[in-house]
Amino acid sequence: MTVNEIAETLNVPIRKVTYTIGALKRCGKISDGKTVVDIQEFVLQNGKNMTNDKMASALGVEQIRVSAAIAALKRAKKIDGFYLLTDILPKQVEIKTEKRGRKAVFAHISESKARKGKAYAREIMVAEVVHSEIKSGKIMSLPASQATIERKIYRSCPFFSFDVAEMDTNVFFKLLETTKKERLPFASISNCKIETLIEKSKKDEYAHLILDYCANLQTIYKDLENVFKKDIVQVGGVIAVTFSVRHSNSYFIETMLKNEIDIKGKKNKVAFEKFVKQFCGYEVIREFSYRDGTPMMLIIVKRIK
Ligand SMILES: C[S@@+](CC[C@H](N)C(=O)[O-])C[C@H]1O[C@@H](n2cnc3c(N)ncnc32)[C@H](O)[C@@H]1O
Repeated sequence: MTVNEIAETLNVPIRKVTYTIGALKRCGKISDGKTVVDIQEFVLQNGKNMTNDKMASALGVEQIRVSAAIAALKRAKKIDGFYLLTDILPKQVEIKTEKRGRKAVFAHISESKARKGKAYAREIMVAEVVHSEIKSGKIMSLPASQATIERKIYRSCPFFSFDVAEMDTNVFFKLLETTKKERLPFASISNCKIETLIEKSKKDEYAHLILDYCANLQTIYKDLENVFKKDIVQVGGVIAVTFSVRHSNSYFIETMLKNEIDIKGKKNKVAFEKFVKQFCGYEVIREFSYRDGTPMMLIIVKRIK
């Protein structure tokens, strides 16, 4: 069917159909058969002599994919000054693929093995970011020394860059080694508390936040308050927060749960949910309890307006 025929059948304006097709292509539901690497290679060979729209029509892809490929190439160049994304990306990285649904992201972890562990929590964080509406821009995160989550996100979505923080100096130096070895797209790496990055960020500056603290709510709620009050994540972006649920008596929890009864065993979870409700435009979209030595919780919050 042509676009016109679809519009006629559905009795909607043509622009609605073209818009939907564009959105489906962008999120990978419709394949145009071109990988990120294909587009980048074409750009590298022809970018000097052809405009973006000419390259898009020569490749048979939407212009937005050409612009995204150029942005990623520029970013990669800017980051370490000499290499290009095409050097780093494994050939199999594709932006199109219908296979990249939630199932595929989880496929390599066996359900039984990972259901309750940190590995599964990581997979959820990766999946929520790579399947979100925002597939490019900056992510703020706490990668620790191995940057496991960041590597996975980068492999699936090469259009993100990261501002990362690590307060422990030994871990920070290990992270520098990992960054160099893996050629990670870190726009900045800071040996400081993440509150410093949050403090200086601007409204809508970040696509997503991955705050894999694993600390208790009492020690992190002020950071989160700042994140929500300043709206540093764009609408459609997600804020992933992990925290320990071992302790349930703290000033934060007592204050949040003043009028709650019968929530034994769920104090941290309910306190966090009530905390988020105080801020307009945010919604808890996913919760996952797991163990990482001690009982932990991952909560995904989305900025909805
Ligand atoms: C739970 S680990 C992150 C794990 C990592 N995301 C992963 O998947 O393996 C938390 C890391 O962040 C650091 N960290 C915790 N709280 C922090 C804070 N407020 N500011 C900066 N770094 C922090 C810790 O030293 C630790 O290395």
